[in-house]
Amino acid sequence: MKTLISPSILSADFSDIANVCKQLQQANADWIHFDVMDGIFVPNLTFGMKFVKDCRKHSTLVFDVHLMIDRPERYVTQFVQAGADIVTFHVEATSDVAGTIKLVKDAGAKVGISICPDTPVDVIAPYLNDVDMALVMTVHPGFGGQKLIADATKKIAQIKSYSPNLLVQVDGGVTTQNVGSLLSLGADVIVAGSSVFNAPDMAQAIKDLRG
Ligand code: DX5
Ligand code: ZN
Repeated sequence: MKTLISPSILSADFSDIANVCKQLQQANADWIHFDVMDGIFVPNLTFGMKFVKDCRKHSTLVFDVHLMIDRPERYVTQFVQAGADIVTFHVEATSDVAGTIKLVKDAGAKVGISICPDTPVDVIAPYLNDVDMALVMTVHPGFGGQKLIADATKKIAQIKSYSPNLLVQVDGGVTTQNVGSLLSLGADVIVAGSSVFNAPDMAQAIKDLRG
């Protein structure tokens, strides 16, 4: 399968977001990754549904919404209504994983389930048949520009061994230098913030991240 690149706009200038959306499309990004943070599940704040809805006017790319929020079941339907094509939530953030999956599906979007670096794959294993994607976090969520935690990457192959056809996304500290090893472990969707937005040529960075 073709590697999909989902640049994280966390590293972009939010005041110039309409242009950022257009630039990503011109640079051949496949998806746009939206990092939603609530100051509770993670120690940082970003944006909510309205931001996603406003961006929707400026892009036809797949909107890949990564919810780093406590009790995501409260908001998933609204993120789908705002234009999310895929909504990913953290297994650590809710006591109702099955119900949250159902809410996203009922709203008409694809659903992803994510694990932090210290969470074992076993915690999401019971749900892998019910989701469209598993997101392996390779940094502790909350901030862009961190270094990839190599130990977390083995979970990519582990998920693939349980569920070979499931999309596996990797997020956190991905660079053009380390992406090769992630792809060889089976990663399908690469999230990259700083390595795309700090690159001198965004299109070249996206090309290089395809491996
Ligand atoms: C971290 C976010 C990531 C982050 C990626 O909490 O989920 O999407 O923005 O940024 P880089 O690629 O800079 O690690
Ligand atoms: Zn993310």
